Amino acid sequence: MDYITLALAKGRTAKDTFKLLETAGIYFNDFHEKSRKLVFYNDDQSLKLIFVKAVDVPTYVEKGAADIGIVGKDNILEAQADVYEMLDLKLGKCKFVVAGKYPESDPEKKRNLTIASKYPTIAKKHFEKKGTSIETVKLNGAVELAPLIGLSDMIVDIVETGNTIDENGLTIFEEIESISTRLIVNKASFATKSASINLFINNLKSALE
Ligand code: PRP
Ligand code: MG
Repeated sequence: MDYITLALAKGRTAKDTFKLLETAGIYFNDFHEKSRKLVFYNDDQSLKLIFVKAVDVPTYVEKGAADIGIVGKDNILEAQADVYEMLDLKLGKCKFVVAGKYPESDPEKKRNLTIASKYPTIAKKHFEKKGTSIETVKLNGAVELAPLIGLSDMIVDIVETGNTIDENGLTIFEEIESISTRLIVNKASFATKSASINLFINNLKSALE
């Protein structure tokens, strides 16, 4: 069997992903939450896990530095990476929304809108589809602040519980799409390491049932 490199996104869904891998019989014994290590091997050394920033997972997989990636659909869409999306792991469920202050930033007022987002590509594509031209302001977090201090008219961001939107007095104007953690595969690896990759995917599929 070929050995596989797996890029796993650090952050909120990492713990649940490790749990799912364990249910699938895949253990990385030296992983623990406080560890600062970035590379781990499973019991039989058939899997090498690299623990990277979520936003970078699609890059590792597209470039073939990792054969498989486990990362949120948000980062896959934003990166527009040329990879195969093979499985929905149904973790980290949330949705992309357009939000702002009501009524000041009503999106139906078709003037030239400024949208702040960690996901400017997704924001552009969404508004393009509707025939609305926008300017984007790329932020790296705390995006909800932008419409409150006049940096943007609206935001495109992720909503999970809705608490951040509520506590900052914003209104959701539109839901763009649902997102969750997905398994992606490098296109060349899928051809050259098909047996190992299919085995890995089937193990995870069984664990999900
Ligand atoms: C994410 C996201 C929203 C919030 C949604 O931000 O960008 O702000 O979580 O979750 P909620 O609907 O449950 O409130 P995160 O906490 O990751 O911080 P950041 O935006 O500053 O990176
Ligand atoms: Mg946030």
